[in-house]
Amino acid sequence: MASDKLRKARDYENQYIPFVPEEERSLFHVTGGIGWINDPNGFSLYKGEYHLFYQYNPYKTVWGPMHWGHVKTKDFIRWERLPVALAPDMPYDKDGCFSGSAVELPDGRQLLMYTGVREENQPDGTIKPFQTQCLAIGDGVNYEKYEGNPVLTAENLPKGGSAEDFRDPKLWREADGYYAVAGNRPADGSGSVLLFQSDDAFQWRYVGPVASNHCQYGSMWECPDYFRLDGKDVLLVSPQEMSPIGLEFHAGNGTVCMIGEANEIKHLIRENVHAIDYGIDFYAPQTLQPPDGRRIMIAWMANWDTARSQPRGIRIFGQMTLPRELSIRDGRLIQRPVRELENYYGEKISYKNVPLSTETNLVGVRGRAIDLTVDVRPANGNLMYRWFKLHLAKDGEHVTTIRYKPDEGIVRVDRSRCGYRYDIVHVRNFPVYSKHGRIKLRAILDRHSLELFVNDGEQAATFVVHTPVTADVISFEADGEVLMDVEKYDLIFDKGEGDE
Ligand code: FRU
Repeated sequence: MASDKLRKARDYENQYIPFVPEEERSLFHVTGGIGWINDPNGFSLYKGEYHLFYQYNPYKTVWGPMHWGHVKTKDFIRWERLPVALAPDMPYDKDGCFSGSAVELPDGRQLLMYTGVREENQPDGTIKPFQTQCLAIGDGVNYEKYEGNPVLTAENLPKGGSAEDFRDPKLWREADGYYAVAGNRPADGSGSVLLFQSDDAFQWRYVGPVASNHCQYGSMWECPDYFRLDGKDVLLVSPQEMSPIGLEFHAGNGTVCMIGEANEIKHLIRENVHAIDYGIDFYAPQTLQPPDGRRIMIAWMANWDTARSQPRGIRIFGQMTLPRELSIRDGRLIQRPVRELENYYGEKISYKNVPLSTETNLVGVRGRAIDLTVDVRPANGNLMYRWFKLHLAKDGEHVTTIRYKPDEGIVRVDRSRCGYRYDIVHVRNFPVYSKHGRIKLRAILDRHSLELFVNDGEQAATFVVHTPVTADVISFEADGEVLMDVEKYDLIFDKGEGDE
């Protein structure tokens, strides 16, 4: 039975969606129907389709009472919108159904595990949140909250663990039962990821910490995910309040990938730690594993620091990244856009061995919904060029520029002229592992985003761009003599079955 709050949210969606004209939306990235979205939740396979829920405030383009919005897909590109799944309608989640995850139960029902937030006024006038882990069970469209909620509370925490910061359970099933990891703030005030176990997915017990921050990478670790990939164990976390570390980690909310080996109680022995995405707009990634064995990750394409600087008049806020296939190479996480994107390729334009020094346009290479790969190298092997620039989403007023300097080994992305009218961070520099001045840049543009993949996914960097979609010029420029190959596909997304 839908509660009043859920019914209200569903009625609101029915009344107003589609709220934004088709031309204003991303073509193949998930957006909310209306209002605000943040973290991906419950990204999982259910009855042969991939479901994605998300943190959702239908009523405003700012964060607010957290519901779970809901979409599903068969191919990670074309998504079908479903009605709001959860509303904050119980005493234990009245102040928000925060992030969580989902699995299919053996009896065919879908189980959602999420953080219920309940705030209480304190005698000193402050408000204190209490975060517990809760369940909801459903059929892929409608969900009932479990009568035994909450299933994990402060009582399940280790000594010193905070009940105020205990959230974002990521649930999975193994041969010996169910596991979940959740973020918690231990006594040192930073973050840790705790492991819980269950035989039936309803009764849970604490196992131990999977990893502890000890204030090394930011403070509280949000939205953990933990999985095995290419013979390694991988933990993804999104720390709050990071201090910058070289060019690897920037200040503020960040994302961290820890690669290593888990011991017999699944505690991670770290071998390598690096940023997941080097752009501005990437947070709270979550993964799933389809039957074909791939590990696919999706993330919120925004961050908490810039999300408050929305262009005036914006009508829906937030989108997800393109789902990305993960692998491990040389101890690092490799990310590539899901291969299903290729099913949406339109016209192909390609050039080989184009000599470049002054700013150049290539006939047919333009667009704002494209998959563009540029392979760059020095024209004369012994004579290194000083820099190469790829200008995108350009018109007389706007431009977003990717620059590579081979002597420094640094890629710089500058979106300061992409239509933002706020003096926030618009530039990111990050180290790449190119040799002899050779670099491969793959840029995926989808109207209001740029996702950059360097050297076949060794680095990814994600940026929202607010540039008007008419700004579709692309140009290439170098200081020094460069040769490049260019391949561009238009991304064609015909409206069809399943679109809203
Ligand atoms: C991460 C996060 C989560 C929380 C959710 C609330 O972006 O802060 O920790 O569950 O957002 O919307």
